Amino acid sequence: MRRWPSPRHLEAVVRPPPTIISRKYSAEAHAAPGTSAALLPFPKPDPFKLLAPQLSELRLSLLSLLESGHPSLSQITRYYFLHPSKQIRPLIVLLFSRATNGLGREWEKKLWESEREGAGGRAEELDQPLTRPDVLNDWNPAMPTNTANFNTVFSLRPLAPHRPLVPTYSAPKHRAPPKLYSPTYVLPTQTRLAQIVEMMHTASLLHDDVIDESSLRRGSPSAPAAFGNKLSVLGGNFVLGRASGALSRLGDPEVTDLIASVLSNLVEGEILQTKEVRTNAETKKEGDVKGEHTVRCKDAWNIYLQKTYLKTASLMAKGARAAVTLGGCKEGEIWREIAYAYGRNLGIAFQLVDDILDYDSASATLGKPGGADLQLGLATGPALYAWEEHPEMGELIQRKFEKAGDVGQARDYVSRSSALQRTRELAQRYADKAKEVLSELPESEAKSALEVLTERVIGRKS
Ligand code: FPP
Ligand code: MG
Repeated sequence: MRRWPSPRHLEAVVRPPPTIISRKYSAEAHAAPGTSAALLPFPKPDPFKLLAPQLSELRLSLLSLLESGHPSLSQITRYYFLHPSKQIRPLIVLLFSRATNGLGREWEKKLWESEREGAGGRAEELDQPLTRPDVLNDWNPAMPTNTANFNTVFSLRPLAPHRPLVPTYSAPKHRAPPKLYSPTYVLPTQTRLAQIVEMMHTASLLHDDVIDESSLRRGSPSAPAAFGNKLSVLGGNFVLGRASGALSRLGDPEVTDLIASVLSNLVEGEILQTKEVRTNAETKKEGDVKGEHTVRCKDAWNIYLQKTYLKTASLMAKGARAAVTLGGCKEGEIWREIAYAYGRNLGIAFQLVDDILDYDSASATLGKPGGADLQLGLATGPALYAWEEHPEMGELIQRKFEKAGDVGQARDYVSRSSALQRTRELAQRYADKAKEVLSELPESEAKSALEVLTERVIGRKS
């Protein structure tokens, strides 16, 4: 088993010194008279309020990444960004950037690249195509390029001039002990990553609303309801295309690998969700009830949690890890492992709560039809727990709640069992683990906000 160097010995040096963390952000600023300020944690910041200006700016500026020469395409690709999501994925990326920048082995290099023209890390450079425009032919009116003429055959073009020499970074001989760089600084590449993860999430929703035949999203007509299925699917693919280009311009093959793998995870998760749950309703008739039932329930739980990781937690986990990687953390440094573990546990807790809310009739008033999962034939956490207590639920799960009255009957089993309570307890265990893995990070306001986020995910009502 790989052994990570324990970061405990770094604690003294990574605790931000007063010159870096202003008094406004320091523990001392919040000390009650007569208490030892150094022992006090940062107060609980509201993660969404803390980053509200950055999230709003990030969302508006990403609209320019989506411009196209076709107004109908632009209309649909912008649609879900104009009815914003909670932006939890970009929030995680930004908070992990703030909570770890300065700690990684290659932080100085990443910072240097973000300040040096031609080194690929400056904000303007992230908008520059890597390929010559007449080959790329990706017309974005928001970023003028020379769109080639299509009226004639394409002749060999003169060779493009060589790119200017990329300045090379030379690492200092002695590296200063790792410490947090600043309470608020985020690299341009990390901000762009936050936009990319939101674009990928939105692209998946454009597809998901076609698959789920959803008529509403966030209280407004869904994209398929407003523009039709074809445009929703094409629009989602277009967003993915632009996100892929932006990903390549981050210039980090490992991050490209990580984030590209989320795309396959999302699709695998969606496929796994459609898989039959083997309830073995038949063996019940044969008398082999107890042992078989337990095995089937375990099997179904395993698939359900795997699906939940792939569909929901993967983007959070890999997005967080990619943010820390862009900040110069390399193989063998624990900060990336913390980011992944946090995102993975938080993502699963988030989806479990989502699945509980689906049984809450009040959620129907929040722009989401309550009971949508059962209508779609999906047995989520609450249904699986109810099945453990009411084996008869197995038959309903097996036929995907298709018979008249099945949905009502399933809701009844759920409400006559401890299913919702147990699902909540499970979500709490994942959220607690997400909070626990943060303990190795040096104290900062961003770390506190990540801790608060684990509580918000459990307490959310929509
Ligand atoms: C929402 O789930 C959907 C997702 C989190 C992922 C959907 C993934 C795909 C459709 C695969 C294709 C992906 C891409 C990137 C092309 P939900 O239906 O449980 O939640 P909802 O109630 O918000 O719709
Ligand atoms: Mg859906």
